[in-house]
Amino acid sequence: MIADATATLESAGVESARNDAELLAAFVLGVSRGRLALIDRATAEQRDAFVRLVARRRDREPLQYVMGTAAFRYLDVAVGPGAFVPRPETELLAGWGVDLARELTEPVVVDLCAGPGPIALSVAHEVPTATVYAVEKSPAALSWLRRNAAELAPRTHVVAGDVTDPALLRDLRGVVDVLLSNPPYVPEGTPVPPEVARFDPATAVFGGPDGLTVVRPVIARAAELLRPGGGLAIEHDEEHATALPELLRADGRFDRIERHVDLTGRPRFTTARRSTDTAPWQTGSS
Ligand SMILES: C[S@@+](CC[C@H](N)C(=O)[O-])C[C@H]1O[C@@H](n2cnc3c(N)ncnc32)[C@H](O)[C@@H]1O
Repeated sequence: MIADATATLESAGVESARNDAELLAAFVLGVSRGRLALIDRATAEQRDAFVRLVARRRDREPLQYVMGTAAFRYLDVAVGPGAFVPRPETELLAGWGVDLARELTEPVVVDLCAGPGPIALSVAHEVPTATVYAVEKSPAALSWLRRNAAELAPRTHVVAGDVTDPALLRDLRGVVDVLLSNPPYVPEGTPVPPEVARFDPATAVFGGPDGLTVVRPVIARAAELLRPGGGLAIEHDEEHATALPELLRADGRFDRIERHVDLTGRPRFTTARRSTDTAPWQTGSS
């Protein structure tokens, strides 16, 4: 079954064909992937279910949609139509936020562009003393976020909001300790794999002509919401390794700007601290 599925997926251009076939088989059989070799038969229902799931993957539906969850740090985040599939590289940004929040007493943490919630819910799960706000605009993504929050970290505050709104989280101005964001950042027109083009919502992936349309307001909101000394991390396209630090410098309200690479060595997120010498209500230069 797995060999046939692997061949089917390979012929459809799925790069991780054997991996995906094994994970789908383990999913259908209700065992971990490592125990597959111990299973010597499948029922007719299990075989039919496997063939149906492999066909969905053959049509380039993301593996995580087919299985209903995406593994992210210590959580299985529920995903499906309307939800951006959490990526492994984002675990590093979430980890940076977790480490910083752990150093603080009862930190206030905000996740802008939360999607189904991997970053916010990881912080809430791993730092129980944190008060976490997860902000998302898309109604479909919000319903996944609410469902995941209820299941995985019920104390999380889910906020329906738009990062371009200057009044967003007004009551938290100048008191946020850690602000994390993985906004849409792919420049319009960039070729993307079929899974992304057909299934990830376009508004979750593309960030305008230069990819920075949503990043700019995220920086403005961060400058307003963070307390002096508070930490900011923004994920970005590898092409933005220079542009993002420049935007932060141009804003004038950040210091300690640092670039971080992902597991493949590509520039993936930038961190900064809200500088202590400008008040939250002072606007930056951009
Ligand atoms: C790249 S996805 C990231 C989702 C999640 N944080 C993650 O890391 O997997 C970007 C998310 O930003 C949301 N988004 C796009 N524009 C937004 C805006 N103006 N205000 C709030 N959320 C927005 C999208 O709906 C999408 O869920």
